[in-house]
Amino acid sequence: MSESKIFEQSTEAAEYVHGKIGGLTPQLAIVLGSGLGAVADAVENAVVIPYTEIPYFPKSTAPGHGGRMVTGTLGGVPVLVMQGRVHFYEGYTPQQVTFPMRVLGRFGIKTVILTNAAGGVNPAYSVGQLVLIADHINYLGFNPAVGPNDERVGLRFYDMTEAYSRELRAVAQTTGAEMGLTLVEGVYLATTGPSYETPAEIRAFRQLGADLVGMSTVPETIIARHEGMNVLGISCVSNLAAGISPHPLTAEEVFETGKMVQGQMAELMKRLAARIVN
Ligand code: HPA
Repeated sequence: MSESKIFEQSTEAAEYVHGKIGGLTPQLAIVLGSGLGAVADAVENAVVIPYTEIPYFPKSTAPGHGGRMVTGTLGGVPVLVMQGRVHFYEGYTPQQVTFPMRVLGRFGIKTVILTNAAGGVNPAYSVGQLVLIADHINYLGFNPAVGPNDERVGLRFYDMTEAYSRELRAVAQTTGAEMGLTLVEGVYLATTGPSYETPAEIRAFRQLGADLVGMSTVPETIIARHEGMNVLGISCVSNLAAGISPHPLTAEEVFETGKMVQGQMAELMKRLAARIVN
């Protein structure tokens, strides 16, 4: 996909979604990570659009990822929720993985909340804890903004000093506190997966400054920033990382933890939506 095609294709995808949702103008987008899909159930007056229907949209193949867009209102705010995402390890190109962020950009959405399940690299973390992403380390070996730059969208070289909005993190802290939740902040490091890490890799990542490790979010944040969107990242610590966990890692543990926290996550999203947009 050349960059100019991405613009036309994301415009076509956004127009298709627009046609399905009538007068609703989403003000906030939320991407739901592994095991967190049921957060979409909190959306009222929901219109559901499977990714398979949306032109050029990549289809989710990862277990625990719904693969549909749910629009409606959350906390009284018009939202666009992505129930499931695609990952590089599924065989998609970096441009395909981040195509949904391009579509959000065409929608004129200014704020996106990216959620994920992540391994806890920081030994102080516990399973089920929600952590705000303060910053990231791109250990993927690629950058999804590589390719011809489309000046209609963003700059060739752009700042990543505040990849994860400080202001949005402050709002999340306040909102969490209202619910009795202490939200600590951490650095998320992305690997391609699909294998989990070795204990030696986790020790190395800790030395690099990582608190969390996962296989998503970073490409989306890079493109969301290119599109001029503000990003709030929230990780659910689904497991302790390799070598910290007393047992081998499994995808089941990741989904089970997601299921455990999705009620809390839904409540947080609802309250956040009302605060972020109003
Ligand atoms: N490593 C990488 N990705 C993950 C993990 C992990 O331990 N847990 C959930 N996603």
